[in-house]
Order: sequence, then C-alpha cells, then structure tokens
Amino acid sequence: MLIVANWKAYIEDLKRAKKLFAAGKRLVRTTGIGIVLAPPAPLLGALASGNKSKVAFSAQDISLTTGGAQTGESTAGAYVAAGATYAILGHSERRAAGDTDSIVAEKLARACASGLTPILCVGERERDGEGRYLAFIREELTAALGGLPPKERAKVIVAYEPLWAIGRTAAFAIESNDLAEMVLYIRKVLAELLPGKSSARSLVLYGGSVEPENIRALAASSGVDGFLIGHASVDPDMFPRLLKQLV
Ligand code: PGA
Repeated sequence: MLIVANWKAYIEDLKRAKKLFAAGKRLVRTTGIGIVLAPPAPLLGALASGNKSKVAFSAQDISLTTGGAQTGESTAGAYVAAGATYAILGHSERRAAGDTDSIVAEKLARACASGLTPILCVGERERDGEGRYLAFIREELTAALGGLPPKERAKVIVAYEPLWAIGRTAAFAIESNDLAEMVLYIRKVLAELLPGKSSARSLVLYGGSVEPENIRALAASSGVDGFLIGHASVDPDMFPRLLKQLV
C-alpha cells in the first residue's frame, strides 16, 4: 500500500509540518505502509533536506519550464535538489487553475527527465448514466501518457480522483464496487498504452474524501494500490487512524 498525503495549502507553519512528518516516520515504522508527503514547496525543502527516514516527499506540481528567467517557478530539478522523489501532476485543482491535458503531458515529461516519479491525477467532474465518464478517463490517460516514450509510461502512478468526491466527507466518497470497476477500467487502458505486460506493475491510487471511516472498505475489495489523501492527511488525529485501518 502507498499513501500519498497531499497537504495542499493547509499547512503554513513549520511546527505543524514537523509534527506531521514525525507522525509519518512513526507510522512507516509501525505499519510498514509506504508514505509520501506532499507539503507546500518551501516546507518540503525544510523537511526533506537530509531526510534519512523511509518517508518520501512529493511536489504538489512542477513548473512547465526547465529553468532560466522564470520568476516564481519551481522546476522539477529544484524539487529533486530539495529532496522530492515524486511529483503530483494534473491534480484537478491545478487543472482548474489552467493546466490543460497538453500541459500535464509536458510536465510528465519534465518530471521523468529529472527522475521524479509522476503521480498522474485523472478524474471526471460528474458521472452520467451512459458511461461517458469512462471515455473521459481514457482520454485523460491517453493525452498524458501518449507523449511519453513507452518505457517511461510504466513509471507513472495513476491517481483516480473523481472531482465530485474531492474535499467532502466519507459519506460522499466513491462506493467500493464503483471504485473496483474504475480500477479495472484504468488497468485495461494502461495495458493498451504500456509496452508488453509492464502495466501489471503500474500502481493505481484512489483519492477523494478518504477518511478513517471508509478507507478500509475502499482498500479491501477495489484492487487499488493506495490512496491520495487531502484533508484527512493534515489532521493529526485522522492521519494515524487512517493508516491503522489498513494493517
Ligand atoms: P480530499 O482531497 O482527501 O480532501 O478529498 C484529495 C485530493 O484532492 O487529493
């Protein structure tokens, strides 16, 4: 299992950040579950430099640029220097701020070129009765992965995050049978896009209102490899409870 804690802009002070990092280190040791923290960039730099623990770090996004005269941009290379090994790309909150499919595809290429493991977010805005949301997911995956050399595609982690389930509570998250169907579908599309049998090793995560109340059921029968967790990952009470549901 892999848990990616997307701190978004919830955490703004180093004291809280350090406490959450300490909890993450404890939980990796006691549960054996892989934990990736995605703090805001300056806090990532403060926490990840000299990190010797098993907790890994992720950028929440990376710049489209490769550097140079680009005020305010944080490139993939700068994230690597700060200690990140993953990058969340195509999150719906970044797409809402202007990231198109082609921008997401370019960022994927930048991340791979710098050695960051991309966590590609895909997800429909709403579910229709005719299954058009499935075609939408296929398009997002194809647009993002299609531009990468086949060997690089196999490194991408896919996070399925339906927009209608983000930032709410467990009661509004996906049902585990619907998630199981989507995970199967994503694996089928990946099998078409990736060379040989390499998609068998691809990780598929779920994100959107994962809380201690629903994580166990979502993990049990859906075939997901882990979760991308927002608000519950910055709650010092909920985060350990989430992890404990998985062991
Ligand atoms: P949430 O956010 O857990 O607060 O729904 C998930 C995400 O947007 O990655």
